[in-house]
Amino acid sequence: MAVGTAPGKVILLGEHAVVYGQPAIAVPVTHVQATAVVEDAPAGTGITIVARDLGRRFRISNREPRGRAAAALARTVHNTLRRLGRSIDLDLEITLSSTVPIGRGLGSGAAVATAIVRALAQHLGGYLTSRDVSDLVYQTELLHHGTPSGIDNTVIAFGKPVYFIRDRCDEVFWPGRPFWLAIGDTGIPSSTRRVVADVRDRWQRDRPTYDAHFAAIGALVAQAREALIKGDLHELGRLMIANQDELRAIGTSSDALERLIAAAMAAGALGAKLSGSGRGGNMIALVDETTSDAVAAALRCAGAQGVIITRVS
Ligand code: PMV
Repeated sequence: MAVGTAPGKVILLGEHAVVYGQPAIAVPVTHVQATAVVEDAPAGTGITIVARDLGRRFRISNREPRGRAAAALARTVHNTLRRLGRSIDLDLEITLSSTVPIGRGLGSGAAVATAIVRALAQHLGGYLTSRDVSDLVYQTELLHHGTPSGIDNTVIAFGKPVYFIRDRCDEVFWPGRPFWLAIGDTGIPSSTRRVVADVRDRWQRDRPTYDAHFAAIGALVAQAREALIKGDLHELGRLMIANQDELRAIGTSSDALERLIAAAMAAGALGAKLSGSGRGGNMIALVDETTSDAVAAALRCAGAQGVIITRVS
């Protein structure tokens, strides 16, 4: 038997602009986690996936299972076995469970895929580096998101804060000082695929304006990397607020997100912004040990459906 796990993630700064070649920073959310358990199954039963959160149990074959989520799981298994030089002619049961909320920008799809890749590699005695895992999970992300930048698979497979530029650089780094994030859920589902496509439409209609917003976000991300390495959390908070101004300008915020951001700031957060694709999903607030409880309470009071406090180091 082998167990693979993977954390969730949030984008700290740089979402959307990252799709257009600007840098972004993402951090793992270790408070939530996906788990895959791989066990040998009776001879002749093939490979079965038991996806508890989807309420599904299905066999891996050469036919794609119905539904995008199941297809993504099947693709992950196929690609991993191919990478390990094995065929699907094995008898295995793969049981999945996850505390990463689905469809909230916390990287649930990439976390489950990473857990599967790790558990399979371990069970079958194959060695994969974090980069190999990230590359395999990227193939799954293509199915979930259409045109993913690759940031989710990178931060989740490495399990460390990453400074990421699409197709150019993924640098793991250590913050100069640990920090805490309060992650507030609007309770409104957000489709990354749809919001990314909508931003693309707007960009195509007015490239100079959108390119300027993306470049401004890129500059904020570069400064945030410096601030993080120095451990200057006040500066990081200021940059998060400036990033939110840009995200509002490109049309990815919403009243619900703005309400939670304002509540977090009023309760003492150092900075706050939406995280991920926006419109719905999550916002994040930069807090410390003395403000985290007050910010979490203020977020709930302002309508957050769930609040996660996570430490990043
Ligand atoms: O909603 P999430 O966290 O999956 O993030 C989407 C981030 C975008 O920058 C909007 C898209 C991407 O592929 O990076």
